Parts: sequence; C-alpha cells; structure tokens
Amino acid sequence: MTKQTILLVGPTGETGRHILNALIDDDSFDLKCFIRSSSASKSSAQQIRECGIATVTAELDDPIEELITLLQDIDTVISCMSPASMKLQIPLIDAAVKAGVKRFLPCNFGTPSARGISALRDVKEEIHDHVFRQKLGFTIIDVGFWYQASIPRIPSGRFDSAIFMPLNDVYSGGSTPNMLIDARDVGKMVARIIKDERTLNKRVIAYGDVMSKNEIHDCIEDKTGEKLELVEISDTEAQNRLDARKAAYAADLENRSNRFLLAAAQYAVTKYVRGDNTPENARYLGYVPANELYPEFRYKSYTEFVDELLTGKIERPYPDIKLS
Ligand SMILES: NC(=O)c1ccc[n+]([C@@H]2O[C@H](COP(=O)([O-])OP(=O)(O)OC[C@H]3O[C@@H](n4cnc5c(N)ncnc54)[C@H](OP(=O)(O)O)[C@@H]3O)[C@@H](O)[C@H]2O)c1
Repeated sequence: MTKQTILLVGPTGETGRHILNALIDDDSFDLKCFIRSSSASKSSAQQIRECGIATVTAELDDPIEELITLLQDIDTVISCMSPASMKLQIPLIDAAVKAGVKRFLPCNFGTPSARGISALRDVKEEIHDHVFRQKLGFTIIDVGFWYQASIPRIPSGRFDSAIFMPLNDVYSGGSTPNMLIDARDVGKMVARIIKDERTLNKRVIAYGDVMSKNEIHDCIEDKTGEKLELVEISDTEAQNRLDARKAAYAADLENRSNRFLLAAAQYAVTKYVRGDNTPENARYLGYVPANELYPEFRYKSYTEFVDELLTGKIERPYPDIKLS
C-alpha cells in the first residue's frame, strides 16, 4: 500500500518536534521535513537529518515555483510555524493548491476562541480564510492548553527545571474549567487525524483533561504536600495587565520575551475570564471532539503528568527563552 506523503513545516519547534516524534513512531507515513535554509546548519536540523528523515531546504518566501516543486507528490502539509512567522503560510498555501496537496493543516494547535480576543488567534483565522478562499482541503486542529505550560511554582523549587512560565496567578476565583493536554499527546492525535477521512475539511478539538486552576492547585498540593503561594487577580487587573503587555510588545516588536508575555496575558483573559477554552465552546464554534472520533485513545491525565513531574523527567519547553 502506498504511504501518505507528509511535509512537516516547523519540525524543530516545540509543537513540531512532538508531531515529528509521533509520525516517526506511527511508521505509516512517507515523511519529509521542511528546514529553513537559514537554519540548515542548526543542531536541531542536523539531528533530524541524522535520524534518516528526508528533508527539503528552502525559505517560505522563495519564489512560488520553488515551493510548488518541493510540494510535488505531497499529500498532506502540516504547518507548525513559529507564531511570529504565521503569515508565511500564505505562499505555502498558494503553492500547496498549485501542487495538488490534498490536505493542509494550518498552524493552530492552540485553544479555541472567536476573533477579537487574542492577536495570535486573529492571525490564525486570517490564515484559515486564505485556505477557504483557495478551497484547499484542510483540517484545523486545536487542543487544550499544554500540561507543560500549566505548572505552578512550588515553594521547594522542585518543579523549577520544568517550568517555562510559572502559573501561580488565580484569575476569576480559579473556578473556570479549561481543556488541557500533554504536549506529547498532540503529536499522537495529529497522526490519527490525518489518516481519517472524517476529519477532512473539519475543525477538530483534542484534550486530555478539563480542570480549573483550583483543581490543578489542589492536585499539586496533594501530590507534593506543599502549600502553593498563589496570587489572586481580578478580571479588571487581568485586563490592565493585558493592556500593559500590548503596549510593551508594540514598543519592541522584535522582543520574543514580550511576545510570550503578551500571549500569556491574552491567554489569561480567554481561558479564565471569558471561559473560551471549554469543550462546550469548542463544540459551539464547530469543532468535532477527537474524544468522540477516537474513544479508544488514552490521553495522559494531568494527575499522571504531575507524577512524572515529580520524577524530574519533564523537560522545560522553550529552553532558549528567558522571560524578563
Ligand atoms: N496549546 C498550547 O498550550 C500551545 C503551547 C505552545 C504553542 N502552541 C501553538 O503551537 C503552534 C506552534 O508554536 P510553537 O511554540 O510550537 O512554535 P516554535 O517552538 O516557536 O517553533 C517554531 C518552528 O517554526 C520554524 N520557523 C520559524 N520561522 C520560520 C520561517 N520563517 N519559515 C519556516 N519555518 C519557520 C522554526 O524553525 P527553525 O528551526 O528554522 O527556527 C521551528 O521549527 C502555534 O500555533 C502555537 O499557538 C500551543
């Protein structure tokens, strides 16, 4: 049987590496990774080549004919672009249409919401509009917030090596439910979804747990025996913080740390104040729940993730980013 041919764009990123690992483990795809010419000598690109994975090297703003050539014979494009480069998916989509790609997964893999709440979500929706204008086959996959990005700091510092951004703030009383997922399960879900004709031209939502901040904190206090130091944030403070981070970002657009802090403030409003990241809202927005498509899939639960966190084996995402 011929294998589905995949081009994975962004295989060295945080989401991309989990998708790459899951596609390799699945062993039923003919996989190629897109490596930027400017990143070809990075160790992350080197590692992919050393694993024997086929790669194509180009830039997404190269002439479209070159992109069309490298997309020849590709069935499915999976885009895991860095949020800062999202708009470079436009030429990739144009080339995918011309090359006859059957399915395009735009870079989503985030929490669902309507437009006008988060700048990143708005850019993603613009990309979807471009896909729809071109009538290109698509699957939009969104997921819960990562467990790996949902870790509060504990007083002993035992989790510090795994924490990218400590989450000790409690918004709106801490009771808003949120969809969550282990970042490693995102890749496993993608491998299933792209083999499934039912998901063509659909939005799919995947999550392993639904928990409020209060439930997360209770779980961590139970497992560690430590009392968390938490900061209550009112809805007005959340909005003021968002406004301040928007201003800081606008003043220095190249500062990656400012971008992450702005994204965190936007996530706080959408997740905790507005309550957008729930199964009910996803269904309202037209998503098909992956849990219904694949009832046999066993997601890692947040509690199991905390057990793993206690072993010290959870890696910190974005090791190169220092948040100031
Ligand atoms: N659900 C959650 O909790 C959660 C958490 C984090 C992210 N996300 C979502 O996941 C998606 C991916 O974000 P991420 O944080 O995983 O990305 P990331 O780690 O910043 O990954 C960036 C990837 O994009 C590549 N890239 C950057 N600029 C490029 C360009 N101009 N052309 C081609 N490739 C380029 C990078 O390649 P190089 O090696 O060449 O730099 C790298 O492979 C986003 O939609 C984000 O919202 C969701």
